[in-house]
Amino acid sequence: MEAINASIDFDRRLYAEDIAGSVAHVTMLAAQGIVTQEDAVAITEGLHRVRDEIEAGGFPFDRALEDIHMNIEARLAALIGPAAGRLHTARSRNDQVATDLRLWLRARLDQADEACRGLQAALIDRAEEHVATVMPGFTHLQVAQPVSLGHHLLAYVEMIGRDRGRLADCRGRLNESPLGAAALAGTSFPIDRAMTAELLGFDRPSANSIDAVSDRDFVVEALAAASLVAMHLSRLAEELVLWSSAQFGFIALSDRFSTGSSIMPQKRNPDAAELVRGKTGRIVGALIGVLIVMKGLALTYSKDMQEDKEPLFDAFDSLALCLTAATGMVRDMTVKADAMARAAGTGHATATDLADWLVQKVGVPFREAHTITGQIVKLADEKGCDLKDLALADLRGIEPRINADVVALLDPAQAIARRTSEGGTAPSEVAKQVARARQRFL
Ligand code: ARG
Repeated sequence: MEAINASIDFDRRLYAEDIAGSVAHVTMLAAQGIVTQEDAVAITEGLHRVRDEIEAGGFPFDRALEDIHMNIEARLAALIGPAAGRLHTARSRNDQVATDLRLWLRARLDQADEACRGLQAALIDRAEEHVATVMPGFTHLQVAQPVSLGHHLLAYVEMIGRDRGRLADCRGRLNESPLGAAALAGTSFPIDRAMTAELLGFDRPSANSIDAVSDRDFVVEALAAASLVAMHLSRLAEELVLWSSAQFGFIALSDRFSTGSSIMPQKRNPDAAELVRGKTGRIVGALIGVLIVMKGLALTYSKDMQEDKEPLFDAFDSLALCLTAATGMVRDMTVKADAMARAAGTGHATATDLADWLVQKVGVPFREAHTITGQIVKLADEKGCDLKDLALADLRGIEPRINADVVALLDPAQAIARRTSEGGTAPSEVAKQVARARQRFL
């Protein structure tokens, strides 16, 4: 029974929140005349001693006492005697644990937001450095059109920006106090729920005591928000893995974020990026796990809900690691602009520019321009060169209306410079995006 029932091995992490909740509760009990001032002072001082003991290490956590709530209360009784027994007046572990977990998660959401902001700062700094660095943009992982590396990095800044919005939404919804719901039905004691809510920094007491002890939707919502952050980090990590391979050679990861191989002396493996990608699996797994725990539970509290904690703790620990690693990799990576520019000059990346020119300068309908350009690409393939390396005579052999203007047009740097539409890849536009991103996010 103890082995399946005890949660102390993992919920001891809630000690600080549990003590903060208890101090608020007993302060309110005294203010309402439910316990004496004297007892409230003894209990508060005792709780602070318990906290100091835990933080000093060596606190005698006892699995027979099941969870953090009972461990702290038992120690309090040992320290201050029978007055400790008054702390749990008008309270249940059901509203207590819901309160603790909300307090814990609120702080972790704030930390995650701060870490996301740090990643955005790193991405924006690197984007600013590389506003005019040309790289191939991909669709289907096939070379599509040249883009600015800064533009590409700013795409992640937008994604992380929306993630921060979701973390903030979650924080706003979870910031209600369950304290005072007691076991499920409320209490006959004249408690002041607004007071405990305020003492703990909650916006208000929860409206319905049954809901307050029943739901863990705030856990699910936080895990969903965390999963989206992780999914974005995983895509970034995948790109770092690809880009740092010899075949791409777009970047080099720093020694701080790569490892050697134990057998192949030449290797530098992007382990940190791979682990950011890999840990996303546990974070998404945590989301699905808690959803499945919750989905069949009749109201109100069932012990199943104790299974919310390990996935939640693990997911937010993993997320913090992933954000730190991603930020470090982005800040540290060496950009090989030459290799990127070379790659942007392959795969006929400026074919769209030629087709657009035929439309804009010659008045050819776009579909026809597409066909003509296709014939030119085929010729380049036959000659084993890139579109931009064909001689003017070759181009004119297929489409006589092509003139010398086209030669400059097919240069990738010029191709990006022309894409000045709002949010587009032209360095002039990307520079504006950098400035706006700084204002919006940092
Ligand atoms: N350890 C429990 C949990 O994490 C605390 C709540 C226990 N409540 C109860 N009625 N047994 O969910």
